This record gives sequence, structure tokens and C-alpha cells, in this order.
Amino acid sequence: MFILKIIIASTRPGRKGPHIAEWVYDVVKKNEAFETELIDLAAINLPFLDEPHHPRLKKYEQQHTKDWSAKIDPADAFIIVTPEYNFGYPATLKNALDFLYQEWNYKPVGIVSYGGISAGLRAAQMLRQVFASLKLIPLAESVSIPFFAKHINEQGKFITDETLDHNLTTMINELIKWSEAMKAIREKR
Ligand SMILES: Cc1cc2nc3c(=O)[nH]c(=O)nc-3n(C[C@H](O)[C@H](O)[C@H](O)COP(=O)(O)O)c2cc1C
Repeated sequence: MFILKIIIASTRPGRKGPHIAEWVYDVVKKNEAFETELIDLAAINLPFLDEPHHPRLKKYEQQHTKDWSAKIDPADAFIIVTPEYNFGYPATLKNALDFLYQEWNYKPVGIVSYGGISAGLRAAQMLRQVFASLKLIPLAESVSIPFFAKHINEQGKFITDETLDHNLTTMINELIKWSEAMKAIREKR
């Protein structure tokens, strides 16, 4: 069994990210390949990067960094649920990524992005550049949700459709293959 962490990137009051992440979590939870945890960056509440050393050295001085490291380190795979802010991804997510290094290395990541007509794709593309530096392996398969607000009902529940379900399932199946491959690589190090 692999450990999968789903990260909610948006942190603002009234955000929609958790509604989408709950849908992702409910689908992944049914998959026996993964033990899954939802991580909410709003709850993690990191300050702007305040470590004196490069994260590559893993010489953390702040307790919040040690806690963040302990959360991310055991993961075999990630799904990042991100909105698009001004054609990019949220600064909160960049900050959370920058805090760590080795904890991300050689692990696959699937992206679920949402937005208006763009479906958050510009944010997703930008993320791939940053993942390269962290040796996070982005999957080709992703879930892109255009006009996401149409999918959220009055009770705040995300209403999926056939295409989104298909895309999410495809991404999860790929994540299993890459989790296996990357675990083997990490063990060889
Ligand atoms: C600061 C800000 C910038 C935004 N920029 C974009 C954008 O570039 N593209 C887009 O599709 N939606 C954009 N939106 C609209 C978001 O898609 C929408 O507000 C969504 O709910 C944001 O996700 P969140 O609720 O999880 O924070 C923006 C929203 C905010 C708050």
C-alpha cells in the first residue's frame, strides 16, 4: 500500500478548493492501493519561508518546518488540488513547496486544477516547471475542471460528471504505477 497525500493549495476564507478536494479524496479512498490523507495548507498555516539553510540540507530550525517535513516525508505520491490565481498557482503552494526538498524527491504527483475557461491549466503548467527542480514527477494525466463553480451545489458538494470521473480514475491508475517505480528508485539511493 502506498501513502498518498492530497494537498489543498488555496487558503483564503470562502475558498472552493476543499469541495473539489473532498471529491478527489472520496474517489481515492475507495482505492486499496492507497492510504490517503487530505492536507489543507490553510490548517498547516506556514509563514513565509523563514529557514536560514537551503532545504536540500534538511537542517531545519523552525518547529513548523520540522512538522511540515514530518507530514510530507512518509508520502509515496501526491495529488495537488490547485486553483489558478492571475494565470499562475497560489503563492501559498509555492511557499509550501519551497520549505522542503528531499521530502519531495522522486515522488509522483497528479494535478487537479480548476478555474474558469482555463480550467486552471496555466497554473498546472507552471507547477510542472517547479516540480522539475524538486524532483517531483508530474504525471501526464491530470484533471482539469473548467467553469468549476457549475459543479458545486448549494450544499457545497462537488457534483462530478462522467468525463471528470474518467480523468480522475485514469490519473489515479497512473499514480499507482509511478508510485511503485519511484519507490524502487528511492530505495536504491
Ligand atoms: C486572486 C485571484 C485571482 C484569480 N485569477 C484567476 C485566473 O487567473 N484564472 C481563473 O480561471 N480564475 C481566477 N480566479 C477565480 C478563481 O478561479 C475562483 O475564485 C476560485 O474559487 C479560486 O479557488 P479557491 O476558491 O479555492 O481559492 C481568481 C481568483 C482570485 C481570488
